[in-house]
Amino acid sequence: MARSDEKAHIEHLIAEMTLEEKVGQLTMLSGELVQTGPAAAPVTSEAIREGRVGSLLNLWGAERVREVQRHAVEGSRLKIPLFFCLDVLYGLRTFFPIPFGESCAFDVELWERTARVAAQECAVEGIDLNFSPMIDVARDPRWGRTVEGPGEDAFLAARFAEAKVRGFQISDLAADGVVAATAKHLAAYGAVQAGREYAPVDMSERQLHEVYLPPFRAAVRAGVAAIMPAFTDFNGIPMTANAAILRDVVRREWGFSGVMISDYSAIAELITHGVAEDKAQAAALALDAGVDIDMMGHDTYFEGLPRALDRGLVKLETIDAAVRRVLQLKGKLGLFEDPYRRCGSPSAIAATAAQGKRRDLAREAACRSFVLLKNERDALPLSDGQGAIAVMGPLVDAKGDARVAVEMTETLAKPVAVLEGLRSALPNARIAFTPGCTVERIEAAERSRARELARESDLVVLCLGETMAMSGEAGSRGHPGLPPAQCELARTVLAQRKPVVILLFSGRPLVLPEWLVEKADALVAAWFPGSEAGRAIGDVLTGRFNPTGRLSMSWPVDVGQIPIFFGARPTGRPAAASDHYTSKYLDMPNEPRFAFGHGLSYSRFELSGLRLDRTELRSGQTVAISVDVANHGPLAGEETVLLFIRDQVSSVTRPLLELKGFQKISLAPAQGGTIRFIISAEDLTFLDPDLAPQLEAGGFDILVGQSADRNKMLSTQIELIA
Ligand code: BGC
Repeated sequence: MARSDEKAHIEHLIAEMTLEEKVGQLTMLSGELVQTGPAAAPVTSEAIREGRVGSLLNLWGAERVREVQRHAVEGSRLKIPLFFCLDVLYGLRTFFPIPFGESCAFDVELWERTARVAAQECAVEGIDLNFSPMIDVARDPRWGRTVEGPGEDAFLAARFAEAKVRGFQISDLAADGVVAATAKHLAAYGAVQAGREYAPVDMSERQLHEVYLPPFRAAVRAGVAAIMPAFTDFNGIPMTANAAILRDVVRREWGFSGVMISDYSAIAELITHGVAEDKAQAAALALDAGVDIDMMGHDTYFEGLPRALDRGLVKLETIDAAVRRVLQLKGKLGLFEDPYRRCGSPSAIAATAAQGKRRDLAREAACRSFVLLKNERDALPLSDGQGAIAVMGPLVDAKGDARVAVEMTETLAKPVAVLEGLRSALPNARIAFTPGCTVERIEAAERSRARELARESDLVVLCLGETMAMSGEAGSRGHPGLPPAQCELARTVLAQRKPVVILLFSGRPLVLPEWLVEKADALVAAWFPGSEAGRAIGDVLTGRFNPTGRLSMSWPVDVGQIPIFFGARPTGRPAAASDHYTSKYLDMPNEPRFAFGHGLSYSRFELSGLRLDRTELRSGQTVAISVDVANHGPLAGEETVLLFIRDQVSSVTRPLLELKGFQKISLAPAQGGTIRFIISAEDLTFLDPDLAPQLEAGGFDILVGQSADRNKMLSTQIELIA
């Protein structure tokens, strides 16, 4: 259908629709193959034929979708197709590392490639819209949903958002292998009080605009089709009803014309929040704020909007505008032309060669997500002549299990766990393991088996951390560290005085005991690596892949430091050990255990020769920032270099460090090269006291380093001339 015909078709439909059919289009129900919120009855074929629903979530598979779609396009009065949605955050059939892990790759191209593959897998399974990417900045590791997002920094999160939107959508939503993306959850969900899931958020408008909104703005600029407001209350107004942000900022100021989909039952929850007394009021608040679709809202839109209309709480034209946006999305997705277009034959996806390529990408992505936190006494890389290796700990089996995996076991190529991966990476090593323990319970007998095995071995690989169920939605933990049973196991093993490599699986930074960090010879943050977990771990532990991942979030020394992040603003009394009245703790350091950007390699890289191609910068101009990188290590490797600025004097205090760029360079042993960043004067803009973007003349430090540890950076200065 030509675009002009489609427009006319949509207007014709709106003119034809009854009020019930209109609110039906604004209603999203569950097809219930998986449960991602409070249980509810799945949709019925009658509801579809009667036009009481416009889209479904949690139902996929070409045949199933075809069958359900047929009720809409053949059985309903206006024959409007449904669209189908699912949360696909790290792949549907091929599992990539969890997004938090993937963000540690600092690799825009990789982020886009994995999204592309996920979209291709979705687009033959009947999925039209993906509830991803999740781009909430997270600065509190207690919050379980840290696992879904790109970490603590707005700049990094914005690049992640753009890459994911490009990967899922390319540029035409109706093209083959494309699905619509959803930027979620707007905004500041990651700042829930005390890291407790669904708790209120109270923060300054400045912080919202400087830190939490920029990734969403980047997603909108990249053309994201949908936005999901957060469940949470923001400064007293739940985001689902927050007209000042959703309507005034996102729709009017940013020009977002796509669809806003509420989170699961979030419109009904406006009643529980205490800002609406009934469904009519809740529906009116959300619709007026700009929310088009009510996901699993116990019919809040379906029943509430007609009542709200009667009571004069909403206007029919506001309902029509929301219906128009929903129908436009269906048009863009190509569903009016072919409602079954994503119920393809999965043959291309299932083809062995294609599957092999996707698995290769999953393996590469996993390797790139790992962060080598510590490596002493040449513990890593392991060599094949290593002798006897003991593999133990509750997560010997960790791969990146996912809830969809359970439903898709028949179609999913088998994931590879750590033990299997190590065995094939080190065919000549004698690898033994102790099975049996769980993350939170390790019996004395299991510990003594571990002790014996450690004694008999030349090296131990200890797999510790969380299961996936310990992070994610509703996965807040007051103590985001290792459960006591694992600490006891680690103590036992470390006491045997054998080299110990600890693999840490988690969906968040872990708060680790000091003794464990000190005594372990090597520590690797492996997150949840996905389908190729074991092989990727084999690659990295043996040096077949030289680690390159960097932390996208600071690892605290203690829960007491949370929130801890590199972009803090200055204090008038910076910490000084010699002065009591300064900003510090009496019982712990201010610095994190591992800084943002930290990550080692088997190579030894050195930065030098930081230089600028100009010393003064005017609006409209750019500056080239160059730095030389040399590989002094024995292995070829890839170095990631981070660029920060610090505004020296400004009308508003600025963060001590602001990330402005990151780049990679691959170098053979003894090879050198140069990295060049280009930034513009406009990149030095900040929000003035009235939150208006401002370029203020003055000096800026330009800092380049391997992490956000300021003591290890090279620095120079530039003068911004007004
Ligand atoms: C989550 C969303 C998700 C939705 C649908 C909610 O509970 O907060 O992120 O997209 O469920 O599964």
